[in-house]
Amino acid sequence: MATFEPVIMKGIGEIDLTDIDIYERNGGFAGLRKALREMTPDSVTAEVTNSNLRGRGGAGFPTGRKWGFLPKDGRERYLVVNCDEAEPGTFKDRMLLEYTPLQIIEGIAIAAYAIGAEQAYIYIRGEFLEGSRTFRRALAAAASRNYLGERIAGTDFSLDLVVHRGAGAYICGEETAQLESIEGKRGEPRLKPPFPAIAGLYGMPTVVNNVETLCYVKQIIERGAQWFAKIGPEKSPGPKIMSVSGHVKKPGNYEIPLGIPARELIEEYAGGLLPGRTLKAFQPGGASSAALFAEDLDVAIDFDSLGAKRTMLGSGGFVVMDDTACMVNCARTLTRFFEHESCGQCTPCREGGQWVARMVARLEAGEGSDEDLRVLNTINNTITGTNLCPLGDSIMPFLASVLRRFPEEFAAHVAHGGCPLKQTPVGAA
Ligand SMILES: Cc1cc2nc3c(=O)[nH]c(=O)nc-3n(C[C@H](O)[C@H](O)[C@H](O)COP(=O)(O)O)c2cc1C
Ligand code: SF4
Repeated sequence: MATFEPVIMKGIGEIDLTDIDIYERNGGFAGLRKALREMTPDSVTAEVTNSNLRGRGGAGFPTGRKWGFLPKDGRERYLVVNCDEAEPGTFKDRMLLEYTPLQIIEGIAIAAYAIGAEQAYIYIRGEFLEGSRTFRRALAAAASRNYLGERIAGTDFSLDLVVHRGAGAYICGEETAQLESIEGKRGEPRLKPPFPAIAGLYGMPTVVNNVETLCYVKQIIERGAQWFAKIGPEKSPGPKIMSVSGHVKKPGNYEIPLGIPARELIEEYAGGLLPGRTLKAFQPGGASSAALFAEDLDVAIDFDSLGAKRTMLGSGGFVVMDDTACMVNCARTLTRFFEHESCGQCTPCREGGQWVARMVARLEAGEGSDEDLRVLNTINNTITGTNLCPLGDSIMPFLASVLRRFPEEFAAHVAHGGCPLKQTPVGAA
């Protein structure tokens, strides 16, 4: 049985943490009061740096170091909070938004204090209608108790928090596209450098952080850097929410200590595979990550161990596929997604993504050829690493990994004129 006691998921499903009285009775805003009354902005940043917290939005960049990049040049600076969550397979930010919005607000206020921002924006995925309503109610409640607004908790620190709703584009989760979108422009990634820390929102120094990251910031300030740093591997420590979906008995969000084997997440947290099935593949980090297979079940779930396996932890969308899943069918779903979500600025992503999706769709429909397979097997380096942002580099990893591991399954689609397997869509019991 999994025994790790939840940290930022604590109380979810048991008490109503959207109620500010209940949130306060359960330790709510203790981290913010401590930061404002007992710590300087620099010591908050130092505490987060010493915890070795790495961003939970996908790239895994060290949070304290990111904050430290802001130039101290007297210019106004901004905090942008990323709650655009659209990576297929990831659904943890939505849960945090709907069930523990005050924890997010507390983390935002602490981070804004640390970086010296008096203006913050939270970018909420357009489809999260219920979550954005819940969040706005929480924001009003927090402001009514002076955890937001002027001279917070009687100190010199003031913070205004604006809710900005997205409009359905996955690319607006990419930090610079998000800045463009907040500025009222088309959501297209910017060329980097300059990085947002130097020239971000409205050209000002800006930090972009994920909501899960900021919930851990609150916990780190309250419990101390050492508490966090001692959980899991030294360079990739702390708890992390994993969104488990696909062919498992108990799909859902699980907060795990990083470093546990993938086997434990599947078998103990998620209840194991469905009866009579065997594991075929799993994606440890959402749609953008390369698949791993039954022989990889002992890999540790953390940024570096998964990176060493040529895949990634990403934002923690863990998709399990058993022996009834057709790899060509899965690849078709994912390549179609990236084709649809490309913003169109880069040729390899826009054109390459479209051609790859068409070839995989042909194979799945039983209309593919050996030439399609030859092209798919040689196109990886033409598309990956040749784009402006990581979306273009996300088109090939899953497809390339299953083409390598199950070449016969792809060839069979050509030979049989379609899928030789009895198909069960991932997620169907
Ligand atoms: C295509 C694409 C989509 C992304 N979507 C999200 C998202 O929905 N939420 C998020 O926090 N980060 C997303 N990211 C990562 C952000 O660019 C950024 O790294 C992150 O918000 C930084 O926060 P963190 O340091 O707290 O992880 C995305 C990146 C790419 C390339
Ligand atoms: S890689 Fe794709 S999504 Fe990213 S900027 Fe280029 S075209 Fe747009």
